Amino acid sequence: MPALNVAPALLLAALSFQLPDTEGVRHTAAEFRQSRAGVLAFVPADAPAASARRLGLPFPVLQILAARPVPAPTFTRDVAPILYQHCATCHHIGEVAPFPLIAYQDAAKRAKLIATVTASRYMPPWQPEPGCGHFQGERRLPDADISTLRRWAEAGAPQGDPAQLPPAPHFPEGWQLGTPDMTVRMPKPFAIAADGPDQYMCFVIPLHLTADKYVRAMEFRPETRSVVHHALFLLDSGHIGRQFGESYPCFGTPGFLPSGALGGWTPGMQPARMPDGLQLVLRKGSDLVMQIHYHATGKPETDQSALGLYFTDKPPTKWVADIPLGSHQIDIPPGERAYKVRDHFTTPVDVEAVGIIPHAHYICKEIEGWAILPDGRKQWLIRIRDWNFNWQEQYRYTTPVKLPADTRLEMEFTYDNSDANPRNPNHPARRVVWGPDTTDEMAGLHVQVVPEDMDDWHELGQALWGKFMRSVGGGFYRKPE
Ligand code: HEC
Repeated sequence: MPALNVAPALLLAALSFQLPDTEGVRHTAAEFRQSRAGVLAFVPADAPAASARRLGLPFPVLQILAARPVPAPTFTRDVAPILYQHCATCHHIGEVAPFPLIAYQDAAKRAKLIATVTASRYMPPWQPEPGCGHFQGERRLPDADISTLRRWAEAGAPQGDPAQLPPAPHFPEGWQLGTPDMTVRMPKPFAIAADGPDQYMCFVIPLHLTADKYVRAMEFRPETRSVVHHALFLLDSGHIGRQFGESYPCFGTPGFLPSGALGGWTPGMQPARMPDGLQLVLRKGSDLVMQIHYHATGKPETDQSALGLYFTDKPPTKWVADIPLGSHQIDIPPGERAYKVRDHFTTPVDVEAVGIIPHAHYICKEIEGWAILPDGRKQWLIRIRDWNFNWQEQYRYTTPVKLPADTRLEMEFTYDNSDANPRNPNHPARRVVWGPDTTDEMAGLHVQVVPEDMDDWHELGQALWGKFMRSVGGGFYRKPE
């Protein structure tokens, strides 16, 4: 076979650096060094045909090359760098994950489980499908790392040369952005029992602001990180939340229509900085309502988390509008495996999407949001194949997504209300309708957009008002039959 006359290691090594990243395969210099010994260590063993196609080589050539022995990955050289970069933020003592993944022993005794949960992409938790929107803080493991973890487990989790172990990751204590201009702390410690179902609590915190403030950055610090699964920060200028008490259970919604929102937090997230011009406004007199999702750890805990706010004198020059796609008309018969909720909105003006927030409860399976651009092209905004309520997040695009006037935004959520759905909270399955409780469902896809020209703000607002009228069932105006 003539192709084999070319020094294959060099040829493949050269080609490997030109591999497109479209399938999530990227190869590091370390892997290259490793692959010089094994020639094909970087080719995912379970996809040789696909790799051959990518490399432009005939498949049999690869098969012959792949037969050469490949040295097994070791913990110190290959596995620790992956765990330190992608897992240790949550998997260290005191954090939200149930065990650390830093020392060799911690990882080695779970090598098979690590291989399984990374292959299925259950870990690291990250829901959006690749290629359907690029988001800040993506926690998706490259295919090459998944393959390394699998081969390490198959080889019996060898430790390797201790001298090759990289320094353990360092997790900064204290405020990462420095002392906040204002610290909004839960008024009292909240007790979380040793066992029991997850709890969703709202804490109403009066801010006592005598003037409007502009927020340029914020940092959430959970006090007891092992119990705090996620947090949401809402504003309440009408003081409606106070009617429910200083703190109250709130599973789906806070029980009032927020006058604004400051975003959310999930473990491992970096402090949020607002892009210039998009500072958030805290209206004087507003309350901040902190919704926290608590998860029991097996021993009783208390928590008194705090949000640090960093102000600027510069008022925003732009505002974010929320395009709420979704529906309240949810009525899912028991046993229904693919119940669909759809909605759409056509923007009358040029906007840029800066973020997107999907929301549904337990039996939602698939979340899809996309845009049909004026030229007919379909552009994904987000796609989640296996929705997990426990890992709901607010996603920010790495680069704002341009949506010219006349773009139609569409959403489709799919629900599985059968007994076969392991996440169904009702056994036996029962009829599920729209509502805020764990056993109810919701469908919301909030697309956060900024008009390219702020003079278009009112036109966008009017179109959204029209959409709102449609969603309340056209109560004020009905289309003639
Ligand atoms: C954003 C936080 C976070 C990151 C990052 C993360 N984990 Fe986890 N992990 C968790 C939490 C929380 C749990 C326990 C709850 C659960 O299973 O969802 C968990 C559970 C696990 C489990 C136990 C699963 C089971 O079925 O018992 C394994 C194994 C695991 N993680 C491995 C990893 C590996 C390997 C990585 C990196 C490639 C990783 N995790 C990254 C938060 C995280």
